[in-house]
Amino acid sequence: MAKTNFVIAIDGFSSCGKSTVAKALAKQLNFVFVDSGAMYRAVTLYFIQQGVDMEDEGGVASAIEDIHIDFVPNNQQTQILLNGEDVSDAIRTMEVSSLVSEVSALKQVRTAMVAQQQKLGAKRNIVMDGRDIGTTVFPKADLKVFMTADPYIRAERRFAELAAKGEQLTMEEVVENLAHRDHIDSTREESPLRQAEDAIILDNSQLTQEQQLEFVLDLYQQAKKSSAK
Ligand code: DC
Repeated sequence: MAKTNFVIAIDGFSSCGKSTVAKALAKQLNFVFVDSGAMYRAVTLYFIQQGVDMEDEGGVASAIEDIHIDFVPNNQQTQILLNGEDVSDAIRTMEVSSLVSEVSALKQVRTAMVAQQQKLGAKRNIVMDGRDIGTTVFPKADLKVFMTADPYIRAERRFAELAAKGEQLTMEEVVENLAHRDHIDSTREESPLRQAEDAIILDNSQLTQEQQLEFVLDLYQQAKKSSAK
């Protein structure tokens, strides 16, 4: 049967503003938006709360069975629910950020999350952001964007975001966390972060949010035209 939905994959490094662009694009196009990083963060939060040992394969497997993640629209926001509880803020703490790359490198975690993500995008028009969306989750996505930005600018953005939430961190700690996550995300065995061959690069170091949205909307129009051919 012919495919009727349109899938947009947005990948890239940590704190590049992927979710901001993906969310704005989904809103503009009236597509579903899924932040796949939020799913790995929710799993990490669960591991912290339940004291799951990452080295214990059996423990990890049974923990995954007990994890149910849902996205629920709420006014302008999408809440993320972990076993029915709203964890939208709890997954953004530095405690979660410092463990999430290790948890998301686990094969069992990836297999479970990728399957859920594929299900979410199977029949819908969707914008999904993450690290391996264009390479592993939706290798046949209709449009793939790979986002990057100057590391210092990324750290500044992340620092401001955390400070606004009252997290007391130094700029060095933020720089270190980003470098640490980039390293693990791009060197892990299971679907490492890398640019898909057919992805288009968006370096947003010097672009406003409006300019980024304009850029991806333009790409969407072009991709739409060529998929209609
Ligand atoms: O997008 P984010 O920074 O909230 O993602 C948190 C972590 O989740 C990131 O360090 C790596 C992992 N992640 C992943 O491995 N694969 C994805 N598709 C999305 C995120």
